Amino acid sequence: MAKFVVNGGARLSGKCRISGSKNASLPVIFASLIARGTSEIDNLPDIGDVRVALEIIKRYGASISKKGNTTYINTEKLRYTEPDAELVCKIRASTYLLGASAVRFGRARLSPFGGCAFSPRPIDMHLDALLSHGAVLSDNGDITVKRLVPSVISFKKRSVGASVNALILAAGASGESVIEGCALEPHILTLIEFLRSMGADISLEGDTARVRGGELHGGKVRIGPDMIEAGSYLALSLLTGGGITVIGAEESELSSFLEPLLESGAEISRDVGIRLCSRPRKPVRIVTGPYPEFPTDLQPIIAPVLALSGGSIRDTVWEGRFGYLSELSRLGISSRIVRGVAEIFPSELKSGNATAPDLRGGMALLMSALSAEGQSVIDGAEVILRGYDDPVGKLGQLGAEIEYVDN
Ligand code: UD1
Repeated sequence: MAKFVVNGGARLSGKCRISGSKNASLPVIFASLIARGTSEIDNLPDIGDVRVALEIIKRYGASISKKGNTTYINTEKLRYTEPDAELVCKIRASTYLLGASAVRFGRARLSPFGGCAFSPRPIDMHLDALLSHGAVLSDNGDITVKRLVPSVISFKKRSVGASVNALILAAGASGESVIEGCALEPHILTLIEFLRSMGADISLEGDTARVRGGELHGGKVRIGPDMIEAGSYLALSLLTGGGITVIGAEESELSSFLEPLLESGAEISRDVGIRLCSRPRKPVRIVTGPYPEFPTDLQPIIAPVLALSGGSIRDTVWEGRFGYLSELSRLGISSRIVRGVAEIFPSELKSGNATAPDLRGGMALLMSALSAEGQSVIDGAEVILRGYDDPVGKLGQLGAEIEYVDN
């Protein structure tokens, strides 16, 4: 297991440029499979999940090249192959293969998908989308599609993953499909933009998407800034003295994250970027929900900030997503869970050793270690590198003493 060794307690300051969004990159990479031609993707982040996704599509024969900040994916000569189980179980986004493979090859395979195991993660809505487009699921997990038909689907709740698959399937089916209850996260809008550039006609009214799909060609898209990475460095600024300016983030995407912090006494300044300073003075209450509500991925990230003045978190997307709190307690953060709500008490952060339980929980540990005086070791660095682009370089530029050790 790789680890980060941190000598914490310094005031971090300077500019931090936000990389491309992980959650936008992964749907776009898998969606590129459904066209014949070359797609151009600008601003993919250099993170573990993206590397795995590119490796997965290479196994189908996609040829990938890079010039500057643009990645070219040629999907002219693909052939179906059993998905590589070892790769597929490394990332959650391999669920997008279900839709993409069904469109391109008329078949797909259910196999254990990976990603953060903070809660049971059902895929019934993904399967509903497949079945409504004419797919047949056999007992051994094989999915076959003789003829991809357009469909009307109404989702019972907002699901990013199921919406990605539904959009990919609808874009590949000739005729008009309707998706009611489509997720509206910024990364979903990026996928829609990409599918449009491939030739799909997509309109969005409220949370209803109408998709006219069919034969598609290579597409083109720029991946926008990662709002979760931006939120992470903004929270780190509050924890380490208010000196980090985040460059290139989309402030409107961060409203639900900024609002509770500003209400409880944090201050924001804007010049070349955004900077959060002045620690919260009142307890902060967080309730997560689908976009534009507070993102579930930022709740572990905000937990160390809540330890400054106290607060609580209720996660309505993943109710049990609090496994990281026991690791945070190793760094001095005191909390308890009462009827599904995590109460975080004002705590003095201290150095220590802890293990990243998942991607965002891991980043919360790293941030806490950076703000606590003394040496900390955060094990499971590779889990954090799945979703954060060059944290050692970016943190080093801000004045952090951090070392990546792989042994
Ligand atoms: C979710 C988050 C996403 C985050 C990711 C990893 C939302 C809406 N989605 O995306 O922002 O990046 O976790 O932390 O905030 N569900 C079903 N059946 C399904 C699929 C989902 O019941 O087939 C439920 C889940 O149990 C969950 C909710 O729908 O309660 C949202 O899940 P979904 O958006 O699909 O999860 P991810 O795509 O992983």
